[in-house]
Amino acid sequence: MFSSVPEHVAIIMDGNGRWGKARGLTRSEGHYAGVQAMERVIDACIDIDIKILTLYAFSSENWSRPKAEVNYLMYLPVKFFNQKLPGFMKRNIKILVSGDITTIPDSTRKAITKAMDKTKNNTGLIVNIAFNYGGRNDILQAVRQMAEDVQNNHLELDNINEGLFENYLYTKALPDPEILIRTGGEKRISNFLLWQVSNAELYFTDVYFPDFNKEMLMEAIGSSEARHAIAE
Ligand code: FPP
Repeated sequence: MFSSVPEHVAIIMDGNGRWGKARGLTRSEGHYAGVQAMERVIDACIDIDIKILTLYAFSSENWSRPKAEVNYLMYLPVKFFNQKLPGFMKRNIKILVSGDITTIPDSTRKAITKAMDKTKNNTGLIVNIAFNYGGRNDILQAVRQMAEDVQNNHLELDNINEGLFENYLYTKALPDPEILIRTGGEKRISNFLLWQVSNAELYFTDVYFPDFNKEMLMEAIGSSEARHAIAE
């Protein structure tokens, strides 16, 4: 067991499509298996007392995928939250979303906002779903809001600093993740949380996300802790 657990873990859930293909299944079936892995990771975070889990569920670049796959990825939150909300309430889980949900289908937005609304007073694990999220877009939308506040005299140029800027990001109330895990073998950040991971440990594993489990999460955290111990 590790002596200290990060407060905030972020995961790029990559490899669903390849997981499906390797089994003669469709990419969408891979995504569905990814949802089941998401549930396992949520349970694991509660077990090991992680406070915040941010999951990259749909990037602003994912719109360029085949229409049927995009439609399925838009439908998954509807299915997921409809089924899982009572369990989330029982386990005191709070759902947050980071990203631009104004341009997603109504049914998806409704399922997500309902989940946020119902769980807003829960005080346990925060599951922050990055949906229609892009790191550059996050920074740009923050700059735009800030410029508007300056223009309307709600904000003085001299008062702009890192802490204030963070309040304009999609992740506002959340501390930065201490570790960013990417499954699926690629070693890239892929426009995820660009500002927020500036000090995070980066952990890459070849395991496809549908195979990711509690032991692997603990290994990622443990290995990051070991590296810190060596560096100290
Ligand atoms: C990347 O794998 C994964 C995604 C684009 C989607 C991840 C989404 C989920 C696990 C489910 C989201 C569900 C909810 C309820 C929010 P990939 O398709 O790029 O895999 P590949 O690299 O093998 O092609």
